Amino acid sequence: MGYIEWSSYLELGIKDVDDQHHKLIDIINKLYDGLFEEHTKEIQLEVLSGLLKYTEEHFKDEEELLRVHNFIDNEEHIKKHKEFTDKIIYYHESITAGKMVMSLDILSYLTEWLTGHIQGIDKEYVAFLKNKGVV
Ligand SMILES: [Fe+2]
Ligand SMILES: [Fe+2]
Repeated sequence: MGYIEWSSYLELGIKDVDDQHHKLIDIINKLYDGLFEEHTKEIQLEVLSGLLKYTEEHFKDEEELLRVHNFIDNEEHIKKHKEFTDKIIYYHESITAGKMVMSLDILSYLTEWLTGHIQGIDKEYVAFLKNKGVV
């Protein structure tokens, strides 16, 4: 079941980036499944670890792409990425320690951050990269 619909408003038109964004959304949708189907804490944490791992991979690739093409706002972009990975780590640690449980609030944060980031700061590099011939 899909909670965040992948659709054209999230598409940037750069294939590798779109594929990675799509996969991130699939993983967040799995977390929604875990919440509503009442998966065990261990399984939810495993999916959350998977989200962290793939987020780090995507951010690394995206930052490298921007660095290679000398995109001027890369530092600011890296800071935003770190904010998100730090938050996932915080949730993972808090749930592991029993100080927090997976919730709609957490999933709303992840959903809003990611979709907002794609439509906001990620979208800002699209014209620049396309101009450099990246597709
Ligand atoms: Fe980004
Ligand atoms: Fe991105």
